Amino acid sequence: MDSIIVTGNGPLNGQIPIAGAKNACLTLMPATLLSEEPLTLTNAPRLSDIKTMTTLLQSLGAEVAQMQGGQVLALSSHDLNNHVADYDIVRKMRASILVLGPMLARDGHAVVSLPGGCAIGARPVDLHLKALEAMGAELELRDGYVHARAPGGLRGGVVEFPFVSVGATENALMAATLAKGTTVLKNAAREPEIVDLAQCLRKMGAQIEGEGTSTITIQGVDRLGGATHAVVPDRIELGTYMLAPAICGGEVECLGGRIELVAAFCERLDAAGISVEETATGLKVARRNGRVRAVDVVTEPFPGFPTDLQAQMMALLTTADGVSVLEERIFENRFMHAPELMRMGARIEVHGGTATVTGVEHLKGAPVMATDLRASVSLILAGLAAEGETIVNRVYHLDRGYERVEEKLGAVGAKIERISGQ
Ligand code: UD1
Repeated sequence: MDSIIVTGNGPLNGQIPIAGAKNACLTLMPATLLSEEPLTLTNAPRLSDIKTMTTLLQSLGAEVAQMQGGQVLALSSHDLNNHVADYDIVRKMRASILVLGPMLARDGHAVVSLPGGCAIGARPVDLHLKALEAMGAELELRDGYVHARAPGGLRGGVVEFPFVSVGATENALMAATLAKGTTVLKNAAREPEIVDLAQCLRKMGAQIEGEGTSTITIQGVDRLGGATHAVVPDRIELGTYMLAPAICGGEVECLGGRIELVAAFCERLDAAGISVEETATGLKVARRNGRVRAVDVVTEPFPGFPTDLQAQMMALLTTADGVSVLEERIFENRFMHAPELMRMGARIEVHGGTATVTGVEHLKGAPVMATDLRASVSLILAGLAAEGETIVNRVYHLDRGYERVEEKLGAVGAKIERISGQ
């Protein structure tokens, strides 16, 4: 297994290009299952999660060709010859459940293994299933698989989510495009990835209104066509790299970054004493003079502070002046980075969904273990600011969500290298 070695090396300066969003791409790819015509995605990120989704779609009979080094994905689902999403692929990535809605909507039947993914809480898929049931699907859970049928096709219905779920909104939105009649999704997720999906589906011929608000209305159509769509920039990769100069000092421009993707996060950065400036090509981030100020953070569905930036923000706050309280409201078990940061000298107390961080002057390098995707990058950020060498082990999590991380951080002056394991 590969490791990453980071050595604290002072301020960072330069530019970092931001890739297309992993989470948007992972929901745009299964949208190919809704149509017999080709779907081309540009600005796709080159990540192992994208490879996993590629393998899954191919196992169902879809064709997925990578062009321009993987930045363009040409997808076609002309012939689907298998409607079973197998456990061996699905267990690697929770987003695999997103093939369920499209397959069911197009062909009236689908069998999908219950998913795995990052170990950040129970993460059930009950909301996905309830939404599809509200559209007339007959579901049975047997031997770890969801067996879904809609013999006469799905029909429109009202789906009221008891709380916001990004994935369940995406599954329901895709399924509803081919359902008979009108579907209304209430308390829908408002994330930019949902807006991106709706825009792509509309190019394919879907009739959708209200994406980006909590009520989305879909008028089902008989068939969808092909489309070409550019994946929205990755707001989590963006926020992560914005934190690099915040932690180390210096000035870094994140190319392709847009403020509306990270507004709540920028507001917290501002409170901590980090300046963010919009440029013609992205967002420029610099630390104002002195130590970062402690700030409190509460994770919430979009437009609130994203849970996927909580670990990285905690890395910043470990060296802030004062006490910060971070409240995690989306996932119940998402502070696994805290004990690892403590190995580096951070002072953190975790009680349930709340972490209290008392800032220290300096972190010290140490061997640490990456426990999930965002936790692993938070340890790299902490290592960049620590005295001495930090070895981050088990970085396969990192490769699921960050492309060329050593190259991107190395280009702005970070001392970071990958050691290949067996
Ligand atoms: C997506 C993102 C993930 C991000 C999360 C929250 C992708 C591929 N992943 O995950 O990076 O951290 O949104 O912004 O886009 N829940 C249920 N039942 C369900 C579905 C969800 O109880 O059927 C719970 C989850 O356990 C969690 C909360 O709802 O506590 C929110 O999860 P959800 O928004 O669905 O996250 P994902 O779509 O899995």
